[in-house]
Amino acid sequence: MTELVAPDTERYAAWAACRREFGGLEELHGDGHWFLPEPLQRDLERDTFDALLALLRRYRRDSADGLIPTDFLWIVDGEELLGFIRISHRLEGRLLESGHIGYSIRPSRRREGHASRALALALAHARGLGIERALVVCQDGNIASERTILANGGSYEAARDGNKRFWFELD
Ligand SMILES: CC(C)(COP(=O)(O)OP(=O)(O)OC[C@H]1O[C@@H](n2cnc3c(N)ncnc32)[C@H](O)[C@@H]1OP(=O)(O)O)[C@@H](O)C(=O)NCCC(=O)NCCS
Repeated sequence: MTELVAPDTERYAAWAACRREFGGLEELHGDGHWFLPEPLQRDLERDTFDALLALLRRYRRDSADGLIPTDFLWIVDGEELLGFIRISHRLEGRLLESGHIGYSIRPSRRREGHASRALALALAHARGLGIERALVVCQDGNIASERTILANGGSYEAARDGNKRFWFELD
C-alpha cells in the first residue's frame, strides 16, 4: 500500500537504503537534499540524515526568515521507503517554475503505480492546506512523470523552458 508519512529519525536505515539506489542526484526530486551544502548532498551518513531532517522540519512551518512553507513527505510501503514527495504551500520565486509538488520513486519500485498514488495523496494533502489550484511540472520528455500527472487528471497549460506545466483544480 502506498502511504505518505512525515520523515522520521527512527527510519535512518530505510532512508539510506532508498537513497543508495539513486545513482546521481538528477533523478532525486522531492527529498530536500538541495538544502544541504553541496558536498553533503550525496552523503548518506547518519549525522547528515539528522541535519537534513532538522532542516525539513523548519520548512514545515511558516517561519519569519522567508522560507516558503513546504511539507517534505516520504512515500512508503510499510517499513520500506519508496521515494519522496514535496508539497510547497505557495508559488513564489523558483517555485513559479518548479510547481507545488515534486516527487521521485526509487528505481527498484518504479512502474508499480506508486508515483500515481502518491501524487493523488499529495493533491489531497494540498487541498487540505487550502491550495485551490496546484501546479505540477515535468521536464519535456519525462514520459513517466507526464503519465503520472495525466493519470491524476492534470490539465496541460504550456511548455516553458523545457518543462511542461500542468494544473489541478482542487476546490
Ligand atoms: C516519474 C516517476 C516518479 C514515476 O514513478 P512510478 O512509480 O514508476 O510511476 P507509476 O508506476 O505510478 O506510473 C505512472 C505512469 O507512468 C508510466 N510509466 C512509468 N514509468 C515509465 C517509463 N519508464 N516509460 C514510460 N511510461 C512509464 C506508467 O505506465 C503509468 O502510466 P499509465 O497510468 O498511463 O499506465 C519515476 O520514474 C521517477 O522517480 N523518476 C525520476 C524522478 C522524476 O523524474 N521525478 C519527476 C520530477 S517532476
